[in-house]
Amino acid sequence: MMSLFFPLTIQMVAWAPGAASPIHNHASWGLVALLNGQERNTFWQRSPTPEFADRVEPVGDRLLSPGDIICLMPDAIHQVEAIDDEPTISFNLYGETNYTQRFEFDPKRHTAKVF
Ligand SMILES: [Fe+2]
Repeated sequence: MMSLFFPLTIQMVAWAPGAASPIHNHASWGLVALLNGQERNTFWQRSPTPEFADRVEPVGDRLLSPGDIICLMPDAIHQVEAIDDEPTISFNLYGETNYTQRFEFDPKRHTAKVF
């Protein structure tokens, strides 16, 4: 059986101009270094209500240029968007990740699903 736990993940990630990720968490700490393009990170936090346990709300954003590095803590929820007219390329390093706890959030339906 395949393990859902990975001790360390290293990825190079590229987004086409105008592309945006879903709103997601990583269930781990993470380091992201932007190498090309311009990337907007929008940060969200859980804001549950009795009716919607997986409700999230935006709490701020940060624009990354080449050379910028951000550290995501395990409770971070974010969305990235390539806002320049060239692709973003980033180096990503994540700590131990339990993939059963990594979610994609839908801010309109207030739902979360594993991704
Ligand atoms: Fe991410």
